[in-house]
Amino acid sequence: MKKTLGDLPADALAGTVVAVRADLNVPLSDGEVADATRIERTVPTLRHLTEAGAKVVVLSHLGRPGGRVRPKLTLEPVARRVGRMVDAEVRFCAHTRGPRVHEAVSDLQPGMVAVLENTRFDPGETANDPSLARDWAAWADHFVLDAFGTSHRAHASTAGLPRAVRRNGGEAVAGFLVARELAALGDALTEPRRPFVAVIGGAKISGKIDVIDALLPRVDALLVGGAMANTFFLAMGMETGTSLVEPDRTAAARRLMVAAGARLVLPVDCAVAASIDPRAEVRFVDRGDIAADEVIGDIGPVTVEMFRSHLREAATVVWNGPMGVCELASLAEGTRGVAHAAAEAADGGATVIVGGGDSAAAVRATGVAARISDVSTGGGASLALLAGRELPGVDALSDLEAREQG
Ligand code: 3PG
Repeated sequence: MKKTLGDLPADALAGTVVAVRADLNVPLSDGEVADATRIERTVPTLRHLTEAGAKVVVLSHLGRPGGRVRPKLTLEPVARRVGRMVDAEVRFCAHTRGPRVHEAVSDLQPGMVAVLENTRFDPGETANDPSLARDWAAWADHFVLDAFGTSHRAHASTAGLPRAVRRNGGEAVAGFLVARELAALGDALTEPRRPFVAVIGGAKISGKIDVIDALLPRVDALLVGGAMANTFFLAMGMETGTSLVEPDRTAAARRLMVAAGARLVLPVDCAVAASIDPRAEVRFVDRGDIAADEVIGDIGPVTVEMFRSHLREAATVVWNGPMGVCELASLAEGTRGVAHAAAEAADGGATVIVGGGDSAAAVRATGVAARISDVSTGGGASLALLAGRELPGVDALSDLEAREQG
């Protein structure tokens, strides 16, 4: 068990400098924040710290600038938005390390916040450069990980900094967002109320074989949608037309089908078109009737109903990945249908956890997000957790029982 922010007495935080690794990797449009969900979710941690009188320094990446300064990926507009969402003075520091950052930190008064520039402008971030972690740890008394979405990355701000802070005698703890997401998925995986149903979608089976392997022994049913279902069709010797398939994964698909038996539920009908194009006419066909010149773009309505009946019975639901090319309205019905069915399951008392950028966006777009028990802020991180992999950012935090040196 790792320490969380709730384990640190608030009066011990007053006047200290607390480095918060948040995931402010939010979509921007015309230089402004287009979706503030990730910021909203980290506000309780920031508020708790400012109200306790800590001097808060927020670190985050934005996009993948590749270790160079890319002005379009500055965190400045995000810092402005943070400033409108916490009741505290929020300053932006246009640097990632060195004396200018040290000055900005020493200028902070208790209860104030500084947001540093995009950590990935510095090549040391993704390389987990120890000198970068040491530079930050020189001003940080404590560290809070509130970036669930980046906790699967072993980077300087997620893994190096917490260990450096602990070496200096400080605490490295999970923020409220991370603690909540770990508890939600952790409980679902270790002590699920049954029936436990997982819905896995997305384009490729290759990236999710370990997830399916880890889930199969735990679930009562595993519903597969998205283009990854095509590789199962191929493994069954069916026509998949011009659809995205991974022929080198058919053996793995066959192995999974044998291991799962009736618990693996594949689509029985599909939305097909001549091409993946918003103007292409879509028709619904039985999965055995796909023509050689057609592409599968979504699950069909019979499958949506079949998935709905599984979800209606479920007491725990974990969903990751879209059912089709949901960025096109004509191929989004399957994903939207599953979003509604997941919300109905939650209304009926099931614990429903949705992770992954597209599936989380789908529950928001269909207006059902508030009915879902937990919409994760992490895509890759929630998949890593579902696959049973360690999260390097969480691993680096202080243990609840005994403090270990990192
Ligand atoms: C995400 O959006 O999934 C996280 O912010 C992690 O981003 P990354 O995949 O670029 O590490």
